[in-house]
Amino acid sequence: MAATSKSNAPQLSKWQLAIILGIGTTASLGFAYWYYKKKHSKKFDKNCEDVYENSETKPKKRELSNDITYTKKETSNTSETPYSKAKAFKDKGNKLFKEGQFDKAIECYTSAIDVCPADRGEDLATFYQNRAAAYENLKNFEAVINDTSKALEYNKSYLKALYRRAKAYEELGDWQKCLEDITAVCMFDGFRTESYLKMTDKVMKELSKKEAKETFSQREPKLPSKHFVRHYFISFSEDPIMKSVEEYKKDMKNPAELSGFRLVIHHLAEENFDEIIPNCNVEIDRRGPDLPEAYLVRATFKLLQGQIQDSLADLTTLYALESVDVKVRVNCLIKIGTLKVQLEKMDEALQHFNKAIELDLNNADIYLHRGQVYLLMERFNDCLKDMEKSCSLNPNFPSARAQKCYIQYRCGIQFNDENQKSAALKGFEEIEKNFPNCSESLFLYAQVLSECGEYQKAETYFKRAGELDAKDPNVYVHLGILALQWKEDVNLAIEYLNKAISMDEKCQFGYETLGSIEIQKGNLQRGLELFQKAVDAAHTETELAHLYSLLLAAKAQAKAAERFGLDLGNLV
Ligand SMILES: *[C@@H]1O[C@H](CO)[C@@H](O)[C@H](O)[C@H]1NC(C)=O
Ligand SMILES: *[C@@H]1O[C@H](CO)[C@@H](O)[C@H](O)[C@H]1NC(C)=O
Ligand SMILES: *[C@@H]1O[C@H](CO)[C@@H](O)[C@H](O)[C@H]1NC(C)=O
Ligand SMILES: *[C@@H]1O[C@H](CO)[C@@H](O)[C@H](O)[C@H]1NC(C)=O
Repeated sequence: MAATSKSNAPQLSKWQLAIILGIGTTASLGFAYWYYKKKHSKKFDKNCEDVYENSETKPKKRELSNDITYTKKETSNTSETPYSKAKAFKDKGNKLFKEGQFDKAIECYTSAIDVCPADRGEDLATFYQNRAAAYENLKNFEAVINDTSKALEYNKSYLKALYRRAKAYEELGDWQKCLEDITAVCMFDGFRTESYLKMTDKVMKELSKKEAKETFSQREPKLPSKHFVRHYFISFSEDPIMKSVEEYKKDMKNPAELSGFRLVIHHLAEENFDEIIPNCNVEIDRRGPDLPEAYLVRATFKLLQGQIQDSLADLTTLYALESVDVKVRVNCLIKIGTLKVQLEKMDEALQHFNKAIELDLNNADIYLHRGQVYLLMERFNDCLKDMEKSCSLNPNFPSARAQKCYIQYRCGIQFNDENQKSAALKGFEEIEKNFPNCSESLFLYAQVLSECGEYQKAETYFKRAGELDAKDPNVYVHLGILALQWKEDVNLAIEYLNKAISMDEKCQFGYETLGSIEIQKGNLQRGLELFQKAVDAAHTETELAHLYSLLLAAKAQAKAAERFGLDLGNLV
């Protein structure tokens, strides 16, 4: 548990996005999974936290003299040899460097390089590296790359030179090359230093965002799994459309007798989700009596397909219509708010939630979803307040209460607040008492329990959630992760994950987790295939970007292992 608060940082962002998209139950390990084993391994004790702390502050406090390398003072008399001359030039260079006279330092290092005997590789590596440091101060990044590359020719495991070259590539926006170098740095370093990991994360995000954008723009939009869609709708307790669906379910009709929006309701009840958009199109084209509802449903399914702009266009049109039912209008505003968040327009998102509150002060859905936005903005107190408000407005909505407890637990971790944590655990127990059959609550409780290290209990709750919601493949993904964390039983984990995938061929989280395991086992090819399947199953650009980051990380690590003769198997 010692490192939990730190190692949570990268996990949280994916989890936050997951919840924003209405998949709070499929919290993913995200990029962190990659070095998951490192962070959770027993080697990571208190001392490691110290290493993290130190390395994090180091670059800021870095003194110039740290950048250059000194060689041991020779005690013997060598002043006449070319080698001793070279060292004398270097010493002079170092002195000038410390004084900030980089141009002159460069001249000295150049002289050192010129006179140094060719068989003094180790020294030449140092001279080049030091000259690169001077060039870096002059922001001549191309020269930094030239000199660090030279240094690396003489000493290929020269970490300082490699890191300097990575930074230069970053400055020049050469993300691919930067990623390769910084990945190698992380590997040499054993994934220990926070500043290296942060840089890797940043570069990976740049690259994967670009790839995701390209892929996404070229592919046909597609819907996520039925399970996903079901869970998305569960996150709204006052959805007017779903109310109609529930009504309709009491007295189902033959679809041949139905037309217009009634047909949409029918297919929603039957979970024929592929029929939804075409039937909404019909209602919208003929401007039928249920025009607002048709816009709302079409926008919702486009949102689920990750078509942010199209969804937003429908919702905006709907909002401008007159005499729309207030529940429809509010649901529309909540969804606009959520989309604005995905476009990273937080202020506009909050404005839409506020408008919704003006229209329908006591609508629990508004607070639940605004709470999730606050969470993303790291306004934890506002988040919890909204979650509590939502629960008090609709105490019979256990999934909101479970989300509240989950977030409360997260905040407890964030702020090291034991009271929050135990309140969250108590909350889960209360929900269980009142709603013993709410699978979502059991599922979130199980996740929290496994984070507390209460693995046995976590397993029981995951299994109960799985019994209640027999179609949820994510239960098995989590059981797989639990098998790793708790029993360190890779084979059992793989068994669970294969089950998840066989239950739902779109189980992106399953492919992703299994892919990570295969790669950690050294089966690069199999891992990459699985990541590719996860990419195929992903349906939003955000998810694609996340998955590309895994793919890119795997490839970069394999490449670095080959280039520097590192053993991938030893690293994981
Ligand atoms: C350096 O050592 C050599 C013998 O190894 C000697 O001839 C020479 O005088 C010495 N030079 C100095 C400056 O001490
Ligand atoms: C870097 O090396 C290339 C190829 O050797 C050379 O053309 C270029 O001028 C060098 N750039 C700098 C700034 O030294
Ligand atoms: C290469 O550089 C590293 C420092 O990063 C050093 O520990 C190692 O001894 C050097 N290897 C050679 C062959 O000079
Ligand atoms: C929960 O489910 C069990 C078995 O499926 C059932 O017997 C029980 O009545 C349910 N409890 C509630 C409160 O719905």
